[in-house]
Amino acid sequence: ELTTYKAYLQGEWKKSSSDETIAIQSPYLRKTIGYVQAVTQDEVDEAIKAAHKAQKSWAELSLSERGAYLDKWADELVNNSEDIATAIMQEVGKGFKDAKKEVVRTADLIRYTVQEALHMHGESLKGDGFPGGDQKKIGIVERAPLGVVLAISPFNYPVNLAASKVAPALMAGNGVIFKPATQGSISGIKMIQALDKTGLPKGLLSLTTGRGSVIGDYLVEHKGIDMISFTGGSGTGRHLSKQTAMIPLVLELGGKDPALVAEDADMDVAVKSIMNGAFSYSGQRCTAIKRVLVNEKVADELVARLKSEIEKLTVGSPEEDSTIVPLIDDKSADFVQGLIDDALNKKATLVTGNKRQDNLIYPTLLDQVTEDMDVAWIEPFGPVLPVIRVKSDEEAIELANRSEFGLQASIFSQDIDRALEVARQVEAGTVQINGRTERGPDHFPFLGVKASGMGVQGIHHSLLSMSRERVTVLNLK
Ligand code: G3H
Repeated sequence: ELTTYKAYLQGEWKKSSSDETIAIQSPYLRKTIGYVQAVTQDEVDEAIKAAHKAQKSWAELSLSERGAYLDKWADELVNNSEDIATAIMQEVGKGFKDAKKEVVRTADLIRYTVQEALHMHGESLKGDGFPGGDQKKIGIVERAPLGVVLAISPFNYPVNLAASKVAPALMAGNGVIFKPATQGSISGIKMIQALDKTGLPKGLLSLTTGRGSVIGDYLVEHKGIDMISFTGGSGTGRHLSKQTAMIPLVLELGGKDPALVAEDADMDVAVKSIMNGAFSYSGQRCTAIKRVLVNEKVADELVARLKSEIEKLTVGSPEEDSTIVPLIDDKSADFVQGLIDDALNKKATLVTGNKRQDNLIYPTLLDQVTEDMDVAWIEPFGPVLPVIRVKSDEEAIELANRSEFGLQASIFSQDIDRALEVARQVEAGTVQINGRTERGPDHFPFLGVKASGMGVQGIHHSLLSMSRERVTVLNLK
């Protein structure tokens, strides 16, 4: 008997009045593992209304009082980590150990968010700093909540990327409407069950599972939403930024993160970082390394070493913690296969891989990739790594920057001056020197430029983006 999960609306677990549910498919079990509610527009209206009401008293609680709920939430997540990790594994096909790490990382992130909020402080300014100003004019700058934040999370970190929006929103004094990706909903529900156990004031947060076609645009355009934090594809991000008028928006979108490997790179470090960066969770990370731009002098060596490492990767089931697991759905696997086929048709060299069983794509390394191939530019979100050989740092930088994306980049060189020089010229939110591309540690600012995003995440910046300045001016006699 499969579970039909209820939605969390105004502090109650409820069946939707739509009487409709959505079946959740497991990518590796290849069957339905449960059902979630298809919430209606009326229910969204009610949830937003309740969030506004509850937010007023929530914002009046002290930071420590708000923090106490969140710390308890972190404890509940850790206490239930086996169950939540199992849900993540089954629902999005993430290896069990990684799913468990995601839960622990989330608890750490929540606790840090509490501490960061407790330690943030405003400022005061005196008017005489400006010509003609006066010492008797004193500005007090504090932070105030925005109201109700809409948090939309993706499938690949159904708990962590949801909590990294919900926790700062709550600490900043906001109400929250949480809309998880459909595949990821069960994990999101379990995460909110943990939050509900803390006795969070009713109505402050609602979890609206449902069809994008029914409540997606409706939520985004809703007059009751005061800020949106979205992680997902660049296409949806662009759509969101057109739909929302005068609503603060933070977008974390796709990437085509390059690894630039110079001829003086420490090859052990480069190989290890590229392997991990490109293939963990089958490349289903926005920050995965998605192309290698290697100096031709060391290209043969790098390709040979990557080939040998790729052939050692474990391929199969998340239950066995395989690195390479079935992709989220068949459509995604077809898309990745299409990129491989296009490259091979255009005479890329297949070094290893290009094998497929249903939605399980074996790790694939393509060498001699050229600019006319889709895989040189398009984000696969799967385990395929194109290698483009370059003659110089300048050529690598030019190719890195020609992408529509600009999330992160990795530079491998033992000459720190050279690496820094290249890093300054690469258009990306973050450049890693001698390491893999990755979002964490979670207190670092995290941002993408160009089609990779808008605004900044990371704990401190998320608290800032989910609150505003409140300026009070004293005009003394
Ligand atoms: O998928 C996008 C995530 O923000 C990547 O996070 O670098 O920790 O895997 P990660």
